[in-house]
Amino acid sequence: MKKDLISVLDLEKDLEDIIKLARTMKGETKDGLEMELFKGETLVMIFEKPSLRTRVSFEIGFTQLGGSALYISPNEISIGKRESVHDVAKVLSRFADMIMYRAFDSGNMRELAEHADVPVINGLDDREHPCQAVADLLTMTEHLGDLKGKKLAWVGDGNNVLHSLLLGGAILGMNVTASCPEGYGPDREIVAEAKRISDGTGAVIDIVTDPKEGVAEANVVYADTFVSMGDESSKEERLKIFSPYQVNMELFSKAKSDAIFMHCLPAHRGEEVTDEVMDCSRSVVFDQAENRLHGQKAVMARIAGKR
Ligand code: CP
Ligand code: NVA
Repeated sequence: MKKDLISVLDLEKDLEDIIKLARTMKGETKDGLEMELFKGETLVMIFEKPSLRTRVSFEIGFTQLGGSALYISPNEISIGKRESVHDVAKVLSRFADMIMYRAFDSGNMRELAEHADVPVINGLDDREHPCQAVADLLTMTEHLGDLKGKKLAWVGDGNNVLHSLLLGGAILGMNVTASCPEGYGPDREIVAEAKRISDGTGAVIDIVTDPKEGVAEANVVYADTFVSMGDESSKEERLKIFSPYQVNMELFSKAKSDAIFMHCLPAHRGEEVTDEVMDCSRSVVFDQAENRLHGQKAVMARIAGKR
């Protein structure tokens, strides 16, 4: 049966192995080894929202593995409007060997995966960003070693990126504390799922409102935009509500003295994070961006059953 990556939960048993594989493949790429895993194959990438990292890392990653990638820009196929999700899935399955989809609606994401006959990878939707979590956990492993018992402190909106990190952290036994304003916390079902997983792995999952409490003793402090793609209509209100959640040096200094700073990017300097934190020696944001490439190559190889 074909495999998809829609949620980090789809990787549950495989997550640790995929991170190991990503490290191996990263080394192989740096050593200049050629990999022809997807020779003659095509990845179709459907984007309903803008992207720098996801678009470029998937296209370059699939090309480095011997295949070719095709980009479909927002508004080109209007999934579910011009044509049903079912029909798009069936048509693309006749052309492509794999589909990457960045969507507004996680319902459309699931439906596409259900009807496609080839693997579908979630390149971000309103619920999750699993490829970001793989790259982030890879980056944390490189900087901190074993993640069991380490603490990740998320500061800001309870959004898609946090959801994937809650699940990924729980799977790897990493403690995740999210500090979010009242009413902007993560989805309850995802928190419950992360807590269920953590019963077996020893992770501690905590949702608080005070950012200072949240970052105390943290090994990693993580920020993301206050206004995710799709939330633009509430931008003004959000910027006001979230202003106490800015990661500046004062807040960052409440974490462990050797804590690292992470951000999935794009960053809005002066909003969720200051230049001083973004550009400091403990900021690993560009390692994270690079690791999108290596993490996704491992994900694609594993999902296709090639490694
Ligand atoms: N982090 C991330 O997914 O970046 P893009 O939106 O640029 O792809
Ligand atoms: N939470 C952000 C992540 C961007 C990569 C968004 O959904 O816009």
